[in-house]
Amino acid sequence: MIKDSTRLKEEILRLKNEKNAIILSHNYQREEIQDIADFIGDSLELSRTAATKDCDVIVFCGVHFMAESASILSPEKTVLLPEIDATCPMADMIEVRSSRKVWKTFPGYDVQPTFIFPHEFTLKDIKAQYPDAPVVSYVNTTADVKAESYICCTSANVVKVIESLQSDTVICVPDRNLSQWAQKHSNKKIITWDGFCHVHDRITIQDVSKARKLYPNALLMAHPECRIEVLEAADHVTSTSGMLRFAKASSAKEFIVGTETGLIYRLKKENPEKIFYPLRKDMVCPNMKKTTLKSVLNSLQKMEHLIKVTENIRVPAKKALDRMLEIK
Ligand code: 13P
Ligand code: SF4
Repeated sequence: MIKDSTRLKEEILRLKNEKNAIILSHNYQREEIQDIADFIGDSLELSRTAATKDCDVIVFCGVHFMAESASILSPEKTVLLPEIDATCPMADMIEVRSSRKVWKTFPGYDVQPTFIFPHEFTLKDIKAQYPDAPVVSYVNTTADVKAESYICCTSANVVKVIESLQSDTVICVPDRNLSQWAQKHSNKKIITWDGFCHVHDRITIQDVSKARKLYPNALLMAHPECRIEVLEAADHVTSTSGMLRFAKASSAKEFIVGTETGLIYRLKKENPEKIFYPLRKDMVCPNMKKTTLKSVLNSLQKMEHLIKVTENIRVPAKKALDRMLEIK
């Protein structure tokens, strides 16, 4: 077994050098993938790295929208996604032309009550309803949605991005939880979709109480894809790499981790003297776990699966990503 994975790693390394490739890994990837990666990070860091690294091939160990972003930013590079079925269900919830989810504004934000657009309304329809409101799309979206957006954001910079805009009304899609979190930190009116991440949205306030009782000395870190009541009960709300920075800088010794459990491997590795507990053990993203050493090797051997965005979508999508990357 050990011998097997050692051989796989050696072959991956050999092919990587031969093809002038780099391996990027999201913080949620399997331990063995994080170990062979040239760079591990959150969505924002991975976007920046994909845009600046000097290489011919990027093997993206993450989910589809991440590889797509890399291809949008670096069309001259060959971007490979080892597992073609590694998608993000939240990113696939929203479509430009045939939305399956409802739109709503937040109750009590202004004089109007919450109003919900019927599911046949599309991103184009809602843009027509709010013609002056720029669309901020979370990077967890398809290239099509990015192409219809003014600017992108990640969990690390959503508030900064929204605050950078002139308009008082902003459309923020597709995550209702991220948008609600941003709304708490902005005076702008934020209109959102009813999208969510099934891994983070399953966490309830009861889960928080249970974890607090079990680990009374631990600080709770939560990802902004969690529900707003969970975020309000957390000690720190941030992206995956934000959690790495927070845990390192904090004098606390114990932490409850309110995000996908894959992050705990890196948290432990970088802070061996500290203890990390998952907020719930089943915070596992099955799609993030699809990539294995075998699939990375296969990807480099067969140069698959190629992720390429057509120019008519790539150019406007790149504008939205570039606008985000310009914000420091
Ligand atoms: P981060 O940008 O915080 O790494 O999050 C990406 C993601 O998919 C969270 O579920
Ligand atoms: Fe998508 Fe959630 Fe998985 Fe992140 S954890 S990739 S948002 S399904």
